[in-house]
Amino acid sequence: MSIIYQREENLSASEYIDVIGGTSLASKRPITNPARVAEMIKGSSLIIGARENGRLIGLARCMTDFVWVCYCADLAVRDSHQGKGIGRGLLKELLNVLGDGVAVTLIAYPEAVSFYERIGWQASVGFYHPRKDAD
Ligand SMILES: CC(C)(COP(=O)(O)OP(=O)(O)OC[C@H]1O[C@@H](n2cnc3c(N)ncnc32)[C@H](O)[C@@H]1OP(=O)(O)O)[C@@H](O)C(=O)NCCC(=O)NCCS
Repeated sequence: MSIIYQREENLSASEYIDVIGGTSLASKRPITNPARVAEMIKGSSLIIGARENGRLIGLARCMTDFVWVCYCADLAVRDSHQGKGIGRGLLKELLNVLGDGVAVTLIAYPEAVSFYERIGWQASVGFYHPRKDAD
């Protein structure tokens, strides 16, 4: 399995929907609303993709100022490709692009907490104001 990690400058809504739809995030992101997904991508300053033979199999979608902090809004690897180091690889490439001066923050779903602990990230207290319109 040869995986290429790269910055995605022109990610399409359909590719995002395809990957997210293949994970447990499918019910947690507005993948039935391509117009909203397109706006989400447009507003993301940094997206890292993992590709196998050109096919997107995972992504990290982030907002960052590139000098101080980065918020990772989505980290996802297709169910079919999980457990092969791709999630770790996406975050490694993210840190590589950002450099040492930028902290990365995210809010983990309970089922992903062990993953972040396993790769050595620090737990932190987060606060969240939920949206009212989620579709
Ligand atoms: C969480 C997710 C991104 C991890 O990606 P992945 O490619 O499966 O993870 P990796 O193969 O890189 O795993 C790296 C290490 O973490 C471990 N790991 C992976 N998922 C884990 C989990 N849920 N709990 C505990 N350990 C986990 C792996 O065994 C591996 O350990 P190793 O170093 O001993 O080999 C992926 O499972 C996913 O997309 N889940 C659905 C969406 C999601 O929950 N995203 C996170 C939102 S907060």
